Amino acid sequence: MKLGVVILAAGQGTRMKSALPKVLHRVAGRPLVGHVIDTARALGADKVALVYGHGGDLVQQAIDDPALIWAEQAEQLGTGHAVEQAMFAMADMDRVLVLYGDVPLTTQATLNSLIGQSRDSALALLTVTLDNPTGYGRIVREDGRVTRIVEQKDASDAELQIREINTGILIADRARLADWLGRLESNNAQGEFYLTDIVAMAVAEGIEVKTAHPADALEVEGVNDRVQLATLERRYQQVQAEQLMRQGVTLRDPARFDLRGRLQSGQDVELDVNVLIEGEVTLGNNVRVGANTVIRNSRIADGVWIKENCVIEDAVIGADSIIGPFARLRPATTLAERVHVGNFVELKKSDVAAGSKINHLSYIGDCSIGRSVNIGAGTITCNYDGVNKFRTVIGDGAFIGSDTQLVAPVEVGAGATIGAGSTITRDTPAETLTLSRAKQISLNGWKRPEKQDK
Ligand code: UD1
Ligand code: MG
Repeated sequence: MKLGVVILAAGQGTRMKSALPKVLHRVAGRPLVGHVIDTARALGADKVALVYGHGGDLVQQAIDDPALIWAEQAEQLGTGHAVEQAMFAMADMDRVLVLYGDVPLTTQATLNSLIGQSRDSALALLTVTLDNPTGYGRIVREDGRVTRIVEQKDASDAELQIREINTGILIADRARLADWLGRLESNNAQGEFYLTDIVAMAVAEGIEVKTAHPADALEVEGVNDRVQLATLERRYQQVQAEQLMRQGVTLRDPARFDLRGRLQSGQDVELDVNVLIEGEVTLGNNVRVGANTVIRNSRIADGVWIKENCVIEDAVIGADSIIGPFARLRPATTLAERVHVGNFVELKKSDVAAGSKINHLSYIGDCSIGRSVNIGAGTITCNYDGVNKFRTVIGDGAFIGSDTQLVAPVEVGAGATIGAGSTITRDTPAETLTLSRAKQISLNGWKRPEKQDK
């Protein structure tokens, strides 16, 4: 069975009140339509076509999927018309599954059950029963069998009482669908070509229209405004949090944890409240992360303790290191094992070898630090001359006194000591004390100035 997927995403999304096309608004850091494309791919779809209209250029820029087939619907003449725009791409498919670009949470399991229903019917619908069905197309049944779908605006009072609604997601035999789409008319309350009219056509041909149902109504909820967007975001986060906890991660409060990307986690990892993980992050065994920490695209080895309020991006942290509180690791920072990075320390494009410590108030950029180095409080690598960046190299076992400026390019020899308050502009020899500051003097008889009368 060759499965084609058509994703409808041409609608304007007026209620988002946004310059951004609706399907590019994000859940868990990924555009709504990105989630739908992921789901289609996970189902093993042979072809995936996206029907776009409003803001098509922006959508094409944002979605990086070379295999995706783009179908333009210049004028939004209805859901049936929209599907028709993509049928050129479905010619060699056996069945066509229709998904909505603004319905991001439908699970593979639910769609597989819908696909299962289509094995012995040319048309199967995903439906759900709601307490409040207002606004949706209603599933009309006679003797339990689906006979047609009636839209809210076309429904009689009796039909408006029906609580089983059309989610819009359906799967049809490709050849039958093409025929039905060709026969749609727009003589209805909205003057649109309704995809839903294919149901009555199928029934007229003697086809028994099947139905499947999602495990949870939120799976088929679309995003129309930012309130719904936030509801689906919370739901998505809750599901992810539960998965992580079942895999052995302790979340101090699953309602205050956000994952926008993918987290690979070892055993006995503990995340305190308000931890945000973005992109691809790996945490080893026994990693602890303190409250209010952001970790983006980073690899953190076993036994690392990241204390509160750290921001870590594109960094690698070696085993048993201790970071923070209030530390910032910027891109291309690599720490070996047992490194300590303390409060108000910023590192960028720097490598730190095993056992070295940068515990207080420092900027370390474009720097290589050897093993067992101690960087005193307030050390600054002056890596930038206003035009170019230069590297600082610090040898194993060096001791950099507090409030030192290292004016790059510069190299501190292994085992060297730099006296506190020095501005180092030339390479310093190994195993030697170097300092560069004025001699301390005390002036006898010096008096503080006194306030003068005006
Ligand atoms: C549609 C269904 C309704 C169902 C509801 C579920 C029809 C006629 N009605 O109604 O039975 O209960 O969805 O939410 O199908 N779109 C296009 N091009 C168009 C029109 C729509 O791409 O010309 C896309 C939209 O971007 C959206 C989806 O199709 O993703 C649904 O469109 P929408 O206008 O929201 O349909 P409803 O009237 O809500
Ligand atoms: Mg709608």
